[in-house]
Amino acid sequence: MLPRGRPRALGAAALLLLLLVIVFYLFDGRLRGAAALDEDLPWDHNRSACFPLRSLLPKCELLHVAIVCAGYNSSRDVVTLVKSLLFYRKNPLHLHLVTDAIARNILDTLFHTWMVPAVAVSFYDADEFQAGVLILHLPSPKPQAASSCPPLPDKQVIGLVENQSDWYLGNLWKNHRPWPALGRGFNTGVILLRLDRLRQAGWEHVWMVTARRLLLTLSATSLADQDIFNAVIKEQPELVLLLPCVWNLQLSDHTRAEHCYSEASDLKVIHWNSPKKLRVKNKHVEFFRNLYLTFLEYDGNLLRRELFGCPSQPPPQAEELQRARAHLDEEDACFEFQHQRLTMPRVHLTFLPVELQLPRLYDVTLVAQLSMDRLQMLEALCGHWPGPMSLALYLTDAEAQQFLRFVEASPVLSARHNVAYHVVYREGPLYPVNHLRNVALAQALTSYVFLSDIDFLPVHSLYDYLRASMEQLELSSRPKVALVVPAFESLHYRLSFPASKAELLALLDAGSLYTFRYHVWPRGHAPTDYARWREAQAPYRVQWAADYEPYVVVPRDCPHYDSRFVGFGWNKVAHIVELDAQEYEFLVLPEAFAIHMPHAPSLDISRFRSNPAYRDCLQALKDEFHQDLSRRYGAAALKYLPALQQS
Ligand SMILES: *[C@@H]1O[C@H](CO)[C@@H](O)[C@H](O)[C@H]1NC(C)=O
Ligand SMILES: *[C@@H]1O[C@H](CO)[C@@H](O)[C@H](O)[C@H]1NC(C)=O
Ligand SMILES: *[C@@H]1O[C@H](CO)[C@@H](O)[C@H](O)[C@H]1NC(C)=O
Repeated sequence: MLPRGRPRALGAAALLLLLLVIVFYLFDGRLRGAAALDEDLPWDHNRSACFPLRSLLPKCELLHVAIVCAGYNSSRDVVTLVKSLLFYRKNPLHLHLVTDAIARNILDTLFHTWMVPAVAVSFYDADEFQAGVLILHLPSPKPQAASSCPPLPDKQVIGLVENQSDWYLGNLWKNHRPWPALGRGFNTGVILLRLDRLRQAGWEHVWMVTARRLLLTLSATSLADQDIFNAVIKEQPELVLLLPCVWNLQLSDHTRAEHCYSEASDLKVIHWNSPKKLRVKNKHVEFFRNLYLTFLEYDGNLLRRELFGCPSQPPPQAEELQRARAHLDEEDACFEFQHQRLTMPRVHLTFLPVELQLPRLYDVTLVAQLSMDRLQMLEALCGHWPGPMSLALYLTDAEAQQFLRFVEASPVLSARHNVAYHVVYREGPLYPVNHLRNVALAQALTSYVFLSDIDFLPVHSLYDYLRASMEQLELSSRPKVALVVPAFESLHYRLSFPASKAELLALLDAGSLYTFRYHVWPRGHAPTDYARWREAQAPYRVQWAADYEPYVVVPRDCPHYDSRFVGFGWNKVAHIVELDAQEYEFLVLPEAFAIHMPHAPSLDISRFRSNPAYRDCLQALKDEFHQDLSRRYGAAALKYLPALQQS
């Protein structure tokens, strides 16, 4: 009903300074518009007497903030806003997030794993949302809080800051015909709404009538909700409460932002509404930019702090972890293992945009995990695997920004739209390898997954070959098949990568390549039976044996990895045991292969090799794992006992 205007790259990266009560946050992309609210703020038009609002708020009062967010990139931007909000807040918060399906998936997971005390989150479907509708969804206001300010005239229901640019003056270019507005118009980047009175005034009806009438004579709005708010206000100026400009300090071009504040402590909300974003011209831009970057890279884990002086109940999932952690013994040699298992790191799914493909019966996603030190593998991997990938990255908040810059600077990576990057924020003493794999696995959208490791490069034809093989083998009617991709290794960085099995065998015979871990751990891949593979023309079945850890292609709904295995050792082996226990058939593909590229050993491997205590802890995990297997598979699990007892 409401025509969507030309999407405007607003991408406001607003920062909240001090306590903010309401936000109206605009986004680039498909969706603009939203509403925000507060409930029982004392409203007063005598701003010199009643601002800042904070001093008038009852202590520990729950504040409502509504934010509109759609798409992948906005879901990243909104985190910076939320971090600044959490940093400065002194009150419990209820965030009302108006999202599309993409942002909802991302933010739902993010807040669930962030576990910030005294923050509630509700979602609203943006596709059903039109300017004003949210207002009707939001909770009813509670009775007015006591205030020493004189009561607000009943009519003032929308608090806004003037638009600091000249847009609505209508003189930006010849025949520039903006929608009607009062004077310079108002900027709807931040709005304070008096919900109870808006409802009483029939707001939804009011804005629709105005919008419909204007659309008879004017073209579609170019600023969507902002035009509509302004048009309504032009007709009914008594609705508006003029907020001081520090509540929406607009850094857009040609603004007079500098006249708005005299010292830093005046600032409340900074609005990066210039198309030039951080490169905007402003006398104090360095100050604003640093503030922005501070929150951009701020460690979100630190914001899990409790809210002092107010009841600050942690979310239930956090409480459960806390209770379990309270039982750990710090003197225990395996304390780090136990602690890591009881850590739920923050997760930001699909950190960069992906384009979803139509589901196909036989399609396969490469699943892997990595940290900063393996980023340089990504370009090569993209060159070898044109299909979809789901990758979990274990990063700090600051590293996540470096990762973004890395992708932006790489033509190969920025051209790929079928690689989903899921950021898992670093937390705890050990590398949670299997948790990372599970995050990536759960986000794969194809019917099959290739469970690989980041330092393997598959033969270029592997993606097509796998799909053809799955079709030939009619895997859709054989749900418990694991296709084995034989693994090799190169000890040299510079390898002329074999294009076919024949070329691979030649390199193997020449001693330029080896079967994987040939020198240190041949047992891991021995059951693949490389001698048979040399000659094989057709897929052949192999049996599980102790320590087998092949790279496999399995249906997406395969068992998850056991996340108790952290750091180095046994993490994949346990998964293969699980597949075998569930009676998966292992079929080796005759033309498939992947080659491990050399790199310096990870910190965890070095610890494993040098530290007997680490190995004892691993043994303890294996014992626990076996007890679980016995519980689930009964006598069938006896088969795995010898494998679990040797080291
Ligand atoms: C607003 O505040 C100023 C300064 O405190 C005061 O002089 C003025 O009378 C107030 N006006 C109203 C309408 O309350
Ligand atoms: C999203 O952000 C990435 C990384 O900054 C950028 O390369 C890309 O162009 C953005 N996409 C859109 C649609 O804005
Ligand atoms: C104010 O006017 C400018 C024109 O320079 C326009 O681009 C902008 O969207 C208007 N409102 C906001 C949100 O700044």
